[in-house]
This record gives sequence, structure tokens and C-alpha cells, in this order.
Amino acid sequence: MLLRYAQIFVAGLCIMLAATGCARTVVQQETRVRPSVMNTPYTEVIAHRGASAYAPENTLAAFQLAIDQGADWFELDCYLSKDGEVIVIHDPTVDRTTDGTGAIADMTLEELKQLDAGSWFDPKFAGERLPTLDESLELAKGQVGVLIEIKNSDDDSALMRDIQEGFAHVPSLDEGQYQELMELIEASGTRNLPLTGAVIDIVRRLEMEDEVVIQSFSSIVCAVALHEAPEITTELLGGGSPDQPEQWENYLRMGHLFGVHGFNPNHGLLTPGRLAAFHAANKAVSVWTVNNPDDMARYARWGVDGIITDYPDVCLEALGR
Ligand code: G3P
Ligand code: CA
Repeated sequence: MLLRYAQIFVAGLCIMLAATGCARTVVQQETRVRPSVMNTPYTEVIAHRGASAYAPENTLAAFQLAIDQGADWFELDCYLSKDGEVIVIHDPTVDRTTDGTGAIADMTLEELKQLDAGSWFDPKFAGERLPTLDESLELAKGQVGVLIEIKNSDDDSALMRDIQEGFAHVPSLDEGQYQELMELIEASGTRNLPLTGAVIDIVRRLEMEDEVVIQSFSSIVCAVALHEAPEITTELLGGGSPDQPEQWENYLRMGHLFGVHGFNPNHGLLTPGRLAAFHAANKAVSVWTVNNPDDMARYARWGVDGIITDYPDVCLEALGR
């Protein structure tokens, strides 16, 4: 079924491009660097999964400690529970960071809330619970920004290949092309679509559009967020090996095609030249995960917009703040 929709989509796109002489494009996404409340002239400190060097990752304890240490933001990861609630946790299962076992997608919020998410880290955090996105955002509101990482919840690689082929000569999408893309994503049945929609709904209900950034390794998630919530800043995460330049090229291509507002690569992939190219295109850049003070100071000298770290206190000191 997916292949059939993809074939229809690619064929339609080829006809459209042929009809327009393959000339291109079109309506750029609005570009901006960061939500206005956090748009500072200095490098911002982003607590990775909260102050996760000192407290169990992705818990309210870790988020509160990040606030107490003076971080500008905390970062979190999220998935959909079986009953459609957005739950904050890094892995697709509860095995590593709670006293339970099983996949989040197979558990209800009530079941997830019974788990102990603190004892694995240190007995003094016994009884810490997996937070919902609602609870995490309510804690942050008015105090710090939240970098919401929407975890890739489905294997969209076949869909991505079709999109890459279909838009091979298109630098960025116009509204009609974006609409076709959304129909293709919807037809694929990917769980990334309802997850991204649920995150957007929560951000809007809490009126925190200007206090969060959505980020994901999934360019499908980013495309959905940009289309459904253009008022929310959305950034594409990048990983991979420095020895594989084609991965970097593909990363740039997908981000620019969908019009992301920023690029957040693994810090080992960034160079001063790459950073300059992002800034010339008015794209924000935050690097992860930087825990060495010398590295923190170097990236700040280069002028990155954000440093994602497990040690916000160390980072603030390294940056002279
Ligand atoms: O924010 C970037 C970083 O969190 C991405 O990697 O595995 O820690 O979610 P991961
Ligand atoms: Ca993350």
C-alpha cells in the first residue's frame, strides 16, 4: 500500500515538474533563529534530558535541577503511550530507566505512571515518576525554554527514499508540494504523525508556542511540525559519521527542502565553515552532547546558538556566565 501511494506521488510530482519546466521554487518558510523569549546574543545552555549528570534523565527532578543551575533550556524526549498520551522518556521501552519492562507503545499512561524512574540512577531518587509532556512544560513555563525532541517512532526509511527521489531537483517546497507531501505521510500510516500532532496540541493548549523548539532526527516529524504548526520553531537533529560526507549532504538537503529553522548536529560533525554556512542561511545551530569544558568554550567562541550538555553548571562556568 505504501509503495503504491509512493508511486502515485512520484509520478504526479514528475508530471508537475515537467509541466513547469523543472524551474523552481518558491515559498520559503519564514526563517528565524529562536523563539523571541530565548533569542539571546550569547550561546545558550541546554540541559540534556535535564541536568542528567546529577539526576535521573527526563524526570521532573532533572528538569528542576536544570532550572536551579541556571540553564536557559532543558531538553526532553517523548513518545506516545498506548492510550495516546505524550510521555517523556528517551528509549522506546521502559527497561533502562525504570523498574519495569516493556514498550511504551504497549502501555497506558496509568501503567507508565506506576513505574519508578529514579531508583536506577540513585536510591535517593526513589519514587520519581515518568513525566508527561504537560507536566514538563508546566514546570518550565515562564522560566526556561524547552527543547522537545520528538522521537522517531516508526521506520520511515522507505517513505524518505520516495520523497528524496520525488524531490530530487527541488531545493524547497511550495505550498502545493507541501500539501502533497503531507498526504503521502498521512497515507503511510506512520505513528510519527499522531505523535507530532499530539505534541503541537499540548504546546498550543499551554500557550507555549514561543517557549519551545521542536527537534527530531526524523525529517518526517520536522516536515509535519513545520506544516501543521508554522508558528513553532522546528530544528533537525543530525548524527552519523564524519567519514561519510554523503550523510551530511543528505542532512542539509532534507533540512533545506522542508525549511527547518535550525540544524542541531552532533558536535563532532560541526566545523567553523559549516556553522558559517548555516548562519548565512539564517539557521540556528545547537550542538550535542558536549560535556568537556574546553569543547564548550570552543563552540561558544565559534558562535553556536546553543550547547546541549548533561552538565549545565559546568557549561555556564565554561562560558563565563
Ligand atoms: O538533543 C540532542 C540529543 O538529545 C540527541 O540524542 O540520543 O540523547 O536523544 P539523544
Ligand atoms: Ca534527546
